[in-house]
Amino acid sequence: MKILVTGGAGYIGSIAVERLIKAGEEVVVFDNLYQGHRDAVHPAATFIQGDLADKDAVETAVATHRPEGIMHFASYTLVGESMEKPFLYLRDNIVNGLNLLESAVKHGVRGFILSSTANLFDDPAKMPIEENERIVPGSPYGESKNIMERYLHWMDRLYGMRYTCLRYFNACGATEERGEDHDPETHLIPLVLQVALGQREKITIFGDDYQTPDGSCVRDYIHVIDLAEAHILAMRTLLAGGPSGKYNLGNGRGYSVKEVIQTARTVTGHPIPMVVGARRPGDPDVLIASSESINHDLGWQPHYPDLRTIIETAWNWHLAHPDGYTA
Ligand code: UFG
Repeated sequence: MKILVTGGAGYIGSIAVERLIKAGEEVVVFDNLYQGHRDAVHPAATFIQGDLADKDAVETAVATHRPEGIMHFASYTLVGESMEKPFLYLRDNIVNGLNLLESAVKHGVRGFILSSTANLFDDPAKMPIEENERIVPGSPYGESKNIMERYLHWMDRLYGMRYTCLRYFNACGATEERGEDHDPETHLIPLVLQVALGQREKITIFGDDYQTPDGSCVRDYIHVIDLAEAHILAMRTLLAGGPSGKYNLGNGRGYSVKEVIQTARTVTGHPIPMVVGARRPGDPDVLIASSESINHDLGWQPHYPDLRTIIETAWNWHLAHPDGYTA
């Protein structure tokens, strides 16, 4: 397969690139390095520093490399930030995505994979969340992904470009060489590990009065390698002529914020002091994915479902890269 990966210098994208190359595939990375890191890009991938907002640059990349498939990771991804900067999320995620779709259709790309999100399900009637759950975007970020999912429907219907939307729950973990390095960091597991590294004094739990067994929010943490493998399986299926699809992607089991912190204490041997702070706006009590559909249709199943293993892989990466990629 020849695959163009947008956001291939970012956390999940760079690990998808690593796994694609390990599987013997040809990869072109397109990334503006705004959030990504040049050092995260696998040396065997062709790298283009470009911005999806630049329609000509996108068109040149797709026309020159003629990928069979595109994995589209590049986007703004923070629920909370999108509530404060709705125009940034609605404009960039949607307009940039449209630039990419237009070139993809023009050059006969056969398979397109969208990084979508659990933030489509702000008001689920059932837990774990299945694909037929009512879509209620929880933020402008979720709305931007919802609109991209709808555009893909039309690209398939009008031009026959097949697609898979993968709605990630909480991506985490690392490979030996690549891990999570955001600036500023907002995600729970890397923040907890920064406390264990002595880079932060304590972790603040955003509320412990939720309707959950220990009062802290419950999330479905999925290892980034399992996410990456889902992309590869989905792309193979599309390029072999399989149908378009939308899948929820998690482990099907939830862990509370307090359980994450306790597990990190065990893994790191550090006491990781914690305090309880105010709720973070927009956080639902519980989010757990049902991944039965992707298991049934694509044969996907997680290889790293255990929280302790997930945190161990992240911890090993952070120990080896205490200052992230900039070191
Ligand atoms: N949390 C804390 N303290 C912190 C940071 C996080 O208590 O310092 C809590 C949050 O309140 C939440 C949980 O830890 O309950 C996980 O929070 P993250 O910020 O790590 O992840 P989110 O669940 O907010 O967001 C992730 C992705 C989004 C995606 C969303 C889907 O980053 O892109 O999952 O649910 F949309």
